[in-house]
Order: sequence, then structure tokens, then C-alpha cells
Amino acid sequence: MSSGGTSGSSAASEMPPQVHTPHPPDSLPSPDPRDELPVSDPLPFERPQEAERKLGPTGRPMPDLPEPGPVATHGRARVVSMCNQKGGVGKTTTTINLGASLAEYGRKVLLVDFDPQGSLSVGLGLNPHEMDLSIYNLLMDRDVTLDEVVVKTGVDGMDLLPSNIDLSAAEVQLVHEVAREQTLQRVLEPALAEYDVILIDCQPSLGLLTVNALTASDGVIVPLECEYFALRGVALLKTTIDKVRERLNPKLEIYGVLGTMYDGRTLHSREVMERLVQAWGDTVFHTVIRRTVKFSDATVAGEPITAYASSSAGADSYRQLAKEVLARWPDE
Ligand SMILES: Nc1ncnc2c1ncn2[C@@H]1O[C@H](COP(=O)(O)OP(=O)(O)OP(=O)(O)O)[C@@H](O)[C@H]1O
Ligand SMILES: [Mg+2]
Repeated sequence: MSSGGTSGSSAASEMPPQVHTPHPPDSLPSPDPRDELPVSDPLPFERPQEAERKLGPTGRPMPDLPEPGPVATHGRARVVSMCNQKGGVGKTTTTINLGASLAEYGRKVLLVDFDPQGSLSVGLGLNPHEMDLSIYNLLMDRDVTLDEVVVKTGVDGMDLLPSNIDLSAAEVQLVHEVAREQTLQRVLEPALAEYDVILIDCQPSLGLLTVNALTASDGVIVPLECEYFALRGVALLKTTIDKVRERLNPKLEIYGVLGTMYDGRTLHSREVMERLVQAWGDTVFHTVIRRTVKFSDATVAGEPITAYASSSAGADSYRQLAKEVLARWPDE
């Protein structure tokens, strides 16, 4: 990785043409005015020029993504884990907003909060102290059924299996269970016929809960923050995915790596993106999620950004991700 500056060596010279050439790159306004408060963004804004649009923020030409058609019937759900053991990279944000976007395209979506922090549940407006039943009960008590635990969200067609701190006990208790890695897969089985997509929000670790999520999944989406240290740990994640595929779940695929919190104004965001594409090739989604405060605002409001700020750039990015994800699934 080059040490900075826009002239000279590899990374910078291979990047698409700079859009905002009159200004030094790190002092530019955010790329989309819809995400910025007027007071914090007094500078004039420029739309990305044609060149950037054609190439796309990952440095590859943007494909034309087909508009997803409606589905005639629901079910045999595809199960997807949102996984990265690094914290704060956008797993929960991606689960909520990809789920809501898929629901907008008519898919029936079940979100699974598989993190004892319960951020997904809180991000959808639930109070962690007021849950009668959570995924913990579903995992540990065979008398509890999926229907008893599933709750509706504010988004049409999107349901949630909520979680709270109770789930942290499951990690310890599951160790003594028979087929401990297959417990989540077993409890999700009855949901497969009802939903089109099941998205599992993993906790930031590669422990038994995450192994359960990977064992229950058809594929993994890896959100990666576009910053220098993002690539550390990815090798370990890949090893874990490979081990689960070998020992527990031969069908497990990597559906894609998603660049999050991207800031096209900074050289290092663009360099990380370039490194990602070098390392992972076309596994990297063409869609990137830019950094914007709207995501935290939406979390506080307990809504997906597609509802909280429906016409914002952040909402559009997740709709685009939904299209790209659906385009990667051949039988969709
Ligand atoms: N594109 C983005 N731009 C700005 N902020 C973002 C973006 N995506 C997520 N955030 C914010 O970053 C924080 C971490 O995001 P999120 O909770 O989705 O990460 P996570 O990977 O699920 O974290 P954890 O590992 O703790 O579960 C949240 O406050 C969220 O609102
Ligand atoms: Mg999270």
C-alpha cells in the first residue's frame, strides 16, 4: 500500500480519474448531498462525473443490474450469514438494510439476530429487556417453536428472530449439546419453506455461535470497512469458512465481500478498495456503502435507512446491493 499523496506510485496512478480535482482530496464534501446536514456541509457539491459512474468505486466497470422481478411463490429460503469477526464493520447495518431492500423487492425476509449485543433487535425498535422469548429460548428449549419467537418488524414482509444478552449463555451451554454446531440449522428448518431469504447477523467473533451460523447458511457476505486495518483478520475468517465447508457444510459459499463506510474523497479508502479487488477479485461487490451519519440516525430511530431516509444515497446503495445479490443467485 502506498504511503499517501496523489502523485507517483501504483495505487494512485491506477485509480479512476479524480472527480474533484480543484480541491485537495481530503477536504472535499461528501459525494452525495442527501446524506449531509447543510450546516456541516457548506461547500458546493458535485455529482460524480461520467467517468466515475462508468468505472464504479471499486475501479471496475459497473454492470447493468437487472431490476428484480416479483416472485410467484415464497420459499425455499436462501440462508446468508453476515460475518466478520472484526467489530463495527457494518454487519448489523447491512443485515437490516439489505433485508429491508429485499423486502421492498417482494422477497419474504427473516432476519436472525445472532449476537448477544442484540443490536439488530434494538435497531428495529425492540427493547432488549422486554422480550418474552428470544432466539436463546429457541436454541435451548425444544418446546419453544419458531412461530412463538418470530416478531414482525415495521417493514412489510420482513420478520425478526430477536436476541438479547441471554444468547451469551448459549455459547457456553451449546458446548455440551449433541450436534452443537447444527443447532441453529435445526431450529431454522421450519422457516425455510416460508421465507425467500434468511439473513443471520453474526457477532464479532469466530466462536461457536458464528460456526452455527455458517453451518446453517448457504453463503456468507463479508462486510469490510474501507480502512487500512480492514484486511487484517480476513485470512482467519477465510480459514474458518473453509473449515466449516470441509467439516460441516459443503455447500457454504462466499456470496460477496462488501466495502462499507467508503469515503471516495480519501486516498486510503480508494486504496483499500483497490487492495480488496486485488485480493478477492469479482467476489467484491460492485456496490459499496459510503460513510454517512444517516445510518446511526436510522439506528436511533429504530428503522432501516430505507424507511427512515428512503430517498437518501445510503438507502439507494442498499437497494443496489439487493439487486446485485439477487443477480448473483442464478435461480432467482
Ligand atoms: N456506511 C456507514 N456509514 C457510517 N456509519 C455507519 C455505516 N455503516 C454502519 N455505520 C455505523 O457504524 C457503527 C457500527 O455498525 P454496525 O453495528 O452495523 O457494525 P457491526 O459490524 O454489526 O458491529 P458489531 O461487530 O459490534 O456487531 C454503527 O453505529 C452504525 O450506525
Ligand atoms: Mg452487529
